Amino acid sequence: MISTASAAAHPNIAFIKYWGDNNQELRIPAHSSLSMNLKELETRTRVSFDPSLAGDQLILNGIHEEGAALQRVSKMLNRIRNMGGLNAFAIVESENNFPTGAGIASSASAFAALSCAASSAAGLCLSERELSRLARTGSGSASRSIPEGYVEWQAGTDHDSSYAFSIASPDHWDLADLIVLISEEHKETGSSLGHSLADTSPIQGARVEDANRRLEICRKALLERDFSIFADIVEQDCNLMHAVMMTSDPPLYYWFPGTLEVMRAVQIWRSHGIPVCYTIDAGPNVHVICPVKEAEKVKRELGSLEGVNSVLECTPGGPTHLLESDFPGV
Ligand code: PMV
Repeated sequence: MISTASAAAHPNIAFIKYWGDNNQELRIPAHSSLSMNLKELETRTRVSFDPSLAGDQLILNGIHEEGAALQRVSKMLNRIRNMGGLNAFAIVESENNFPTGAGIASSASAFAALSCAASSAAGLCLSERELSRLARTGSGSASRSIPEGYVEWQAGTDHDSSYAFSIASPDHWDLADLIVLISEEHKETGSSLGHSLADTSPIQGARVEDANRRLEICRKALLERDFSIFADIVEQDCNLMHAVMMTSDPPLYYWFPGTLEVMRAVQIWRSHGIPVCYTIDAGPNVHVICPVKEAEKVKRELGSLEGVNSVLECTPGGPTHLLESDFPGV
């Protein structure tokens, strides 16, 4: 018998970044992190376990994938097959409503949606915490896409203690994430390899040691909606992660000239009293964060900068969830 389930998940943007693992296999991070789900961006995934299949299949935005992408998905499916006592292979059909090549990290929403759909199709009824742990094993940041809104991922020390939970609902604070697309090129070094290089930087130790201080300041600022304190700590945390990347062996440089141009402009605007700050993941695009009511003005300013291709506006998003009916397009 074929057993099918579908799920939808949002990617998230980290305000306190995850960079470096204590356990690479289980993706137990070196420190806790904090993020916001991005409502307007979504991955939808359907998983069908089918006893007649000779192997797992992955169809991403209509294209059959093989190699590393399929292997990573199969690894997650193996974990779920073990949990559910199942041995059928599966077809995984997944679609993003945002361009895959646009340099927006999709592994968080991909593994959140996959964990949710596949565990349900396998007959497992997992709690939010169990789903967050499971999603973490596919991509660390996917653990943060499971709960709603503003989310903290507690590092923990083992599989059981490392999971994410919501600290505030999406409507707690009307923040906008203006994703400034600088380059649509595929990133050179993926985050899995990047995490494994973090400890080669002589400053990673100090960054990890200071992580709880930054997280506590950020969490408090977020809960109190204090943008000024929030902005300073978000930028410091981002810069610390990129300093580790640039001082790893081999060094990782993700910024393009346009990246730096946006960073400098944002700092100038803030010094002129506009509530705005930046954060950057493992790629050249800049996430410009501001209260929603400032978004139009900030977008206009961003549009006038050289090297800015386009801007996507996102707001706080809900949790990963099952889809009752099949979704169009797959
Ligand atoms: O989940 P991963 O392995 O793709 O790591 C995410 C790493 C960053 O996006 C750079 C930071 C973060 O916390 O999201």
